[in-house]
Amino acid sequence: MANYSITNNELYHENYKQASNNPKQFWGELAKENFLWKKPWDSVLDFDFSIPKISWFDGAQLNITENCIDRHLKTNANKTAIIFEPNDSNSSSEQISYKDLHERVNKFANVLKSRGIKKGDRVCIYLPMIPELAVSVLACARIGAIHSVVFAGFSSIALATRINDCDCRLLITSDGSYRGKKTIDLKGIVDEALESCPSVKNVLVAKRIHSDINMKEGRDQWLQPLLDDASIQCTPVVMDAEDPLFILYTSGSTGQPKGMVHTTAGYMVYTAYTFKNVFQYKTDDIYWCTADIGWITGHSYIVYGPLLNGATTVMFEGVPSYPDYGRFWEIVEKHKVSQFYTAPTAIRALAKQDLSFVTSYDISSLKVIGTVGEPINEEAWQWYHKHIGQNRCPIVDTWWQTETGGILISPMPNCYEGKPTYATLPFVGVQPVLMDENGHEILESKAEGRLCIKYPWPSIARTIWGNHKRYEDTYFSAYKNYYFTGDGALREENGHYRITGRVDDVIIVSGHNLGTAPIEDAINEHDQVAESAIVGFAHPIKGNALYGYITLKNEYSNQTELQSEINQLITTHIGPIAKLDKMQFTNGLPKTRSGKIMRRILRKIANKDSSNLGDISTLLNPEVVEDIIKNSL
Ligand code: WT7
Repeated sequence: MANYSITNNELYHENYKQASNNPKQFWGELAKENFLWKKPWDSVLDFDFSIPKISWFDGAQLNITENCIDRHLKTNANKTAIIFEPNDSNSSSEQISYKDLHERVNKFANVLKSRGIKKGDRVCIYLPMIPELAVSVLACARIGAIHSVVFAGFSSIALATRINDCDCRLLITSDGSYRGKKTIDLKGIVDEALESCPSVKNVLVAKRIHSDINMKEGRDQWLQPLLDDASIQCTPVVMDAEDPLFILYTSGSTGQPKGMVHTTAGYMVYTAYTFKNVFQYKTDDIYWCTADIGWITGHSYIVYGPLLNGATTVMFEGVPSYPDYGRFWEIVEKHKVSQFYTAPTAIRALAKQDLSFVTSYDISSLKVIGTVGEPINEEAWQWYHKHIGQNRCPIVDTWWQTETGGILISPMPNCYEGKPTYATLPFVGVQPVLMDENGHEILESKAEGRLCIKYPWPSIARTIWGNHKRYEDTYFSAYKNYYFTGDGALREENGHYRITGRVDDVIIVSGHNLGTAPIEDAINEHDQVAESAIVGFAHPIKGNALYGYITLKNEYSNQTELQSEINQLITTHIGPIAKLDKMQFTNGLPKTRSGKIMRRILRKIANKDSSNLGDISTLLNPEVVEDIIKNSL
């Protein structure tokens, strides 16, 4: 028997054993009993990691929005589905019931249909954290359009790259957005991006900041009047289990961002199941994840996971520091939040502030608190545990990735506890392994190695949009027949995992996954720059920050000006999140004889660990290293 609700240690172990020993039976039972299907599957799972090809619940038909919304209407129509908490703490919050959500999603879906959007079309969503964001995601899913949400902090060039990669036909945006004290001209960014996006025929614009914006005749339309005229009925389109639900871009160590493709049924089953158990969600809980829906955390654990469980999920438009550093705790008190889920970088920033920002509020409603996005250091964990969890709430340090769709390794309250810096045990059905340098699975329990997963779980991404070869190369070629995560980890005798961080060139800054290649490309656009290399270095708040080594074409006198020009280029090409904290101008970059930049050496220097650089005699230009060390920042 597969248990949907896992509430103690024994049940965890029982279900874990069943899901590992007999995965098809386990997931088949779980899926059958807890979701609405229009047609059952022919086969629970077919896979071959060597191709790679993975399919779950093949032959089944469903619509995920019926599972997220319609099925709750019978008993819970008036229950709040979404609490919208605006940027401005003086504006009132909005409660959207399941019934309201049903109407709003249907109306929005009908508007999309009226613009010619149909099953399989890609729709780009570039919106701030306002209700229209969640509604438009679900509206796409209602009619089988594939949503591609682009985080609204990305620049016009980054947006255009993502639109063009998957040929979006329609884009949803707003006139602007609020971010703390600032407003951002989102529509201006969109207009710039669309100059190079011929596939986009329609732009729907939500009104948020009521600014005077340019509306392009024949292309742009205000959303509200269209919604006002739309019907509240929209029959959900019948989807096959393996039809794509969405594309979400994530950085790789090289090249352009990868459009990870998630499909319908497996993603639904796994995000619902992990949400329920990792957060030990109970019927009347109020759940709040502070992420943006522009990232996978928001897709899986603001929208889909909570709604699939009929939960109340909080959507917060603002930032933790506005109007002051008490904002998060004010919201927890106001809505009596039971589960709170945020990133280590936010915890570190909040821990630096006066404790009165926390103690002024009653946060005793909290039951479970979580973190995600990067390893959490012991100090931040302790602060979170003591001051937010009040030495009472379990912390779930959840390890997962855009590619995994849902949480793979995490403590599970009531079942097993976390301890500082440990993501602990795999979720039911997840089979992690550690690999040694020779590519063999390490069998001893106490070990350190590269983290792979040896069996599919239902929400694994199925491909990279338009580039299955890259999917194979990135995830399935390092170790034959294993999914390679890109992370290193160590394992204790009791099987608990601690994630040690990326072992590739992906750098996680403030919980955001940044690839070095697009940043270096942006820097190299500067006409004074010959070449550049980016590495991460340890930063007290951001976890990692970016250190750029830049070789100029000529001597250049005004370095401060050059630095700000370079950061401006990065902002234009990617977004402010990718700006460099340190820039060192160098006479050259250390290279192998085949011309590859030795980032390992640069990483050590950036982390002030240059005493042990290993053998550098094989370098093409060992002389530059000394110079770089001498001038390092
Ligand atoms: C990378 C994935 C999954 C949602 C947010 C990030 C790192 C994520 C943890 C954690 C240590 C973590 C890994 C992973 N990471 N959570 N709890 N402990 N590291 O998704 O942008 O796809 O990044 O984030 O390095 O590979 P993402």
